[in-house]
Amino acid sequence: MGSIVDVVVVGSGIAGLSLALKVAKGGASVMLITKKTQAESNTNYAQGGIACVMAPVDAFASHIEDTLRAGDGLCDLAVVSAIIEEGPGRVQELAEMGVSFSQEKSGSWDLGQEGGHTHRRILHVKDMTGRAIEEALLNAIAAHPNITLREHVLAIDLITASKLARRQKQAAAKDNVVGLYALRVHTGKVETITASAVVLATGGSGQAYLYTTNPDIATGDGVAMAARAGVPVRGMEFVQFHPTALYTLTGERFLISEAVRGEGAILRNTAGAAFMEAYHPQGDLAPRDTVARAIDSEMKESGSPHVWLDLTHKPEAFIRERFPTIWQACERHGINPAKDYIPVVPAAHYQCGGVETNIDAETALPGLYACGEVASTGLHGGNRLASNSLLEAVVVAHRGAASILNYLNHVKPVKASTPLWVDGEAQDSDERVVLSHNWEELRRVMWNYVGIVRTQKRLERAKTRLAMLQQEINDYYWNFKVEPELIELRNLILVSSLIVEAALARKESCGLHYIV
Ligand code: FAD
Ligand code: SIN
Repeated sequence: MGSIVDVVVVGSGIAGLSLALKVAKGGASVMLITKKTQAESNTNYAQGGIACVMAPVDAFASHIEDTLRAGDGLCDLAVVSAIIEEGPGRVQELAEMGVSFSQEKSGSWDLGQEGGHTHRRILHVKDMTGRAIEEALLNAIAAHPNITLREHVLAIDLITASKLARRQKQAAAKDNVVGLYALRVHTGKVETITASAVVLATGGSGQAYLYTTNPDIATGDGVAMAARAGVPVRGMEFVQFHPTALYTLTGERFLISEAVRGEGAILRNTAGAAFMEAYHPQGDLAPRDTVARAIDSEMKESGSPHVWLDLTHKPEAFIRERFPTIWQACERHGINPAKDYIPVVPAAHYQCGGVETNIDAETALPGLYACGEVASTGLHGGNRLASNSLLEAVVVAHRGAASILNYLNHVKPVKASTPLWVDGEAQDSDERVVLSHNWEELRRVMWNYVGIVRTQKRLERAKTRLAMLQQEINDYYWNFKVEPELIELRNLILVSSLIVEAALARKESCGLHYIV
């Protein structure tokens, strides 16, 4: 079973959709695969918005400075400058595509404020920015004849020239990607998709942690696929914990956007005292790592499982209008944000590292591109500035599309179909319970030992546990028929090991990696 296209894009978040659209407009045939329904992605849940210099009182230099400060000396200045300076053009395209960014009565953009930014510069669609962007991009994709979008198709592994040569006991003269294997989730069949270029736009890996703002899709598949193919991955120690997720007893962690603090919400400890001024001159709008650590410290001191977010000084009508999704989520949990403090805790939120790329989405492996949260371009360094990720995705998708079209002009189109997948035989075994047990154990190990505040000893402990999990899952993997939970768990274990390895290698505290 197989198909041949110019480009296969893996993932239907902002990065995959934007890039697919632009490559298709350039004349290439594109297959876009996504492992769940088309809108399911981290993008779909983005609340705060997209950081971009759009106001006359703002300046590129200021956004660049804020990004560099958050990144703690590890950003790539050329990448930061280019992404920020090309942002307005890309944001304008989104608006033209139908994303109705919120406006003031005067008709100018209603710009939000978030931690670490010295200006109001966050374009948003109330608190449902990601959903509005997904809708607009999916509509454009549906109308484009060069794109085939396939839901419930899960990429398993890359196929490279060197891998094929090894099978034929030959040496590949030059390595490049030639396609991938993917699982049709509803039939359990694995198919081969042959392509001249493969784009990883698979998002992040928040599911490695017990508590996360990320939806179930965030299992680090792209990073794991790239790493298995020998493609360099970097910066994995920099896991961003969002300071304010709604605390619930079920373990669900719904995001309470930083934009809420941008509109004046105050963090209070369980004694009711505002505490952020004691930790940072920017107070409640300090960079995210500082706020998350401050909350962690307050919780440890008081023994409470959460702190409070106080928005009660704002009128109900304002909160409902500006933050309708957050209002509804609070209401579901019996909280009225105009009257009650909101219980909040930090939760794993964003993978700052990833597959190493340049600003044109090119990886070290010819034909392989990565864009969005899966990639590490050098924009975020040690810590991502709030709302810089949607911006990075649209700018890099635009540049990546141009690079892919150029690549397609210079390589011979792949013609021959690549070899078929050989599956393990066993299925439906009693052993299946191993999957859910290992999944749970992994997420606990990462939460307990590789969290906001780290120690060498805890990281070593995590390393030992992960090695055992990896061994077990590998044995399982090669004997059983592949299924989504198995593929995702295998990927998460690998990605978690990369996080731990990187954290162990970095001896000093830097950005989000805080070691005591
Ligand atoms: P995603 O949007 O996560 O899309 C990944 C896609 O890949 C999905 O369609 C997924 O199903 C698919 N996929 C994954 N693995 C496979 C596979 N093996 N096979 C096939 N398909 C696969 N950033 C901001 O800049 N501003 C914000 O306001 C903001 N708010 C956020 C709020 C929340 C709750 C969260 C979780 C994140 C937020 N972020 C925000 C971060 C931002 O949303 C993400 O970094 C960004 O949307 C990532 O886009 P992406 O296209 O790279 O990946
Ligand atoms: C938020 O709205 O607080 C999330 C913004 C982001 O992750 O960039």
